[in-house]
Amino acid sequence: MMTPSATAVVGLQWGDEGKGKIVDLLAADHDVIVRYNGGANAGHTVVIDGDRYALHLLPSGILSPDRVCVVGNGVVVDPQQLLIEIKSLRERGREVQPHQLLVSDRSHVVMPYHKEHDGALETVLARAADHGDENLSIGTTRRGIGPTYADKVHRSLAIRMGDLLDKAVLRRRLDIVCAIRSRELEALGVDAPPLDAAALATEYHALGEQLAPYITDTVYALHDAVRAGKRLLFEGANACLLDIDHGTFPYVTSSNCSTLGIPPGTGLPGSVIAETVGIVKAYGTRVGEGPFPTEDLGASGERIRERGHEYGTTTGRPRRCGWLDLVAVRYSAMVCGCTSLAVMLLDVLSGFETLKLCTGYRLSDGTVTDRFFPDARKLAMVEPIWETMPGWAEEIDSITSEDQLPAAARDYLDRIADFVGCPVQIASVGPDRVQTIRMTEAVGA
Ligand code: GDP
Ligand code: IMO
Ligand code: MG
Repeated sequence: MMTPSATAVVGLQWGDEGKGKIVDLLAADHDVIVRYNGGANAGHTVVIDGDRYALHLLPSGILSPDRVCVVGNGVVVDPQQLLIEIKSLRERGREVQPHQLLVSDRSHVVMPYHKEHDGALETVLARAADHGDENLSIGTTRRGIGPTYADKVHRSLAIRMGDLLDKAVLRRRLDIVCAIRSRELEALGVDAPPLDAAALATEYHALGEQLAPYITDTVYALHDAVRAGKRLLFEGANACLLDIDHGTFPYVTSSNCSTLGIPPGTGLPGSVIAETVGIVKAYGTRVGEGPFPTEDLGASGERIRERGHEYGTTTGRPRRCGWLDLVAVRYSAMVCGCTSLAVMLLDVLSGFETLKLCTGYRLSDGTVTDRFFPDARKLAMVEPIWETMPGWAEEIDSITSEDQLPAAARDYLDRIADFVGCPVQIASVGPDRVQTIRMTEAVGA
């Protein structure tokens, strides 16, 4: 029997809720920080004493000394990107020692042809939309995520981190992979010479050798850690509404980024999880295509984007901005089994006279529902039902305790907790570690 003692951190909207900041904070009370899904499509920002770190593949716990970070089998690993991150931390005086980072030998490798395929397909679909066809481009990060997971599910042509360590195996696999992929890329309009299996095998074997000290069977390592009484912290990447099964399909990413992805992505049973912290941005954002019922295309959305610096950590794209969709957040909290919430970027809302919250949807036949639609076509048809609340004028980014929160901000948190049915235990009022308010009496508890 395993006693539940692990914590999961998961985004409840469309990503970029501030998961990195909370994982970095909670790492202080945990021993092992584990990524279970996604890849370098994630961009997690951590600010420590004014220094900003953007992490894509490395768990955010890597910035806390004496913690073990695990890249689980459910992650898709771009070895080039991983080495860039390790190198950039080294240059900033943070050496990543082999005992600090364990990368699953079963995690799948993002190869250059996956990234090319991702970008080329998006271009073809966007062009078709320009010519009047249905817009089927997803607005991906072009990091090769979809094609790599597709190869995993397809099996025969997949390459896993462990495979990089055996050059002969890699070469044999790449001979057939390159022959097939070259033709596919050509069909997608990529104007490049055919893929060179020998060169790729040499390059990726060399990358594997550099990462070899970190590559291991993380499933046994994680079970050993649990048995030894270590506290685990799961770092969700992307977010629940981008989950391949439970998000706004097809405008989602290619993994189970809700907490439901933890068991398959780590090899641990869900019963190890004691607490699940849902990360909620105090308003709404979305990057890429897909329905976003509470999007604000006017001055309010623009103001949120500028005050919140809402530009992608991974691609630099301006994020679409709007109001908080409580229907969506309550759905995500239900799917993820949240036990508490952290409400982020509350400071961004200072200065709005009134705040809008979506508490229901009106359907095209006039009926009303408070249920979410994890399906793009259905969600695109809904009209939000708004509730308004008074805003607060004061800047709150330098407050340090909950009694300094303006009453209207406190009411706003109360309303979130009440609607979602989950207490708010953390309110974040700025990007830095210190700009965090732990609610002594959790709102809504
Ligand atoms: P993640 O992908 O969920 O880790 O979130 P990102 O790092 O992509 O985006 C969140 C952004 O908001 C980052 O730039 C953070 O530094 C910043 N941030 C986090 N919490 C707060 C907050 O409470 N207030 C403000 N103003 N910025 C925050
Ligand atoms: P973090 O972990 C925001 C979005 C992309 C695109 C869709 C599919 O930083 O919250 P993909 O490249 O995964 O095939 O793109 O999903 N997306 C994210 N948006 N934050 C993320 O991660 C995202 N990861 C994927 O913008 O719409
Ligand atoms: Mg992000």
